[in-house]
Amino acid sequence: MPIKKIIAIGSAKGGVGKSSITALLALSLSKHKKVGILDADIYGPNQNILFNLDSKNNIVNKKIMPAEKKGIKIISMGNILNYDDAAIWRGPMLSGAIKKLINDTVWDNLDYLLIDMPPGTGDAYLTVFKELIIDEFILITTPNKLAISDTQKTITMLRKLNINILGFIFNNIFNVKNFDNSFFLSNKIDHLGTYEFDKNILDLNLDFNCLITNKISKIIMSDV
Ligand SMILES: Nc1ncnc2c1ncn2[C@@H]1O[C@H](COP(=O)(O)OP(=O)(O)O)[C@@H](O)[C@H]1O
Ligand SMILES: [Mg+2]
Repeated sequence: MPIKKIIAIGSAKGGVGKSSITALLALSLSKHKKVGILDADIYGPNQNILFNLDSKNNIVNKKIMPAEKKGIKIISMGNILNYDDAAIWRGPMLSGAIKKLINDTVWDNLDYLLIDMPPGTGDAYLTVFKELIIDEFILITTPNKLAISDTQKTITMLRKLNINILGFIFNNIFNVKNFDNSFFLSNKIDHLGTYEFDKNILDLNLDFNCLITNKISKIIMSDV
């Protein structure tokens, strides 16, 4: 597959900013590189909404053509099914749907494919890791007990599967003061950056020039 690097962005916990930060990173990286997003959240696709994609994908010779916004190629179940339909897909269809999105999409050449992972540690993860070689995983967490404890589950799974962890991002949506890094430090996981609550992220502003995202993009690009 002509994709140079695949980066998955996730955490077991929902609502910590995985989808928003994936979109921000794609917007920042796309200023320098060719970028795609695979929205692997089959039940709750969000990239279609974040990027205001309202038309269905074209299918050409049984292959799915990704949507394109700001030069970013985007595949999201939300553009394939009606949004409401995605929520009622049954479990056994999940890995089939992810496999189809991975294998049937025409990405052409990409420098980076970012994968917006669903919450949890279940089937979706196993399917993505089986179908693709993930070069790096970025952990997103809010700085609080529940999210960090769920992140621990993700780390355990990633280590079992030998997936490389690039680092973690604190998404400080709740404006917590003096939060504790020690869990990640003791696990030798690098801190890539901290986001604060920002209205440009709350209702994603696609033109937001986000300094912290640019900094994290540089870390990602320094690796190539
Ligand atoms: N730094 C931030 N500032 C403001 N709102 C944020 C921030 N990060 C996330 N949000 C909001 O929090 C909610 C959860 O974010 P989302 O990206 O959907 O998380 P996840 O993909 O982990 O479920 C969304 O409503 C999003 O707009
Ligand atoms: Mg999400």
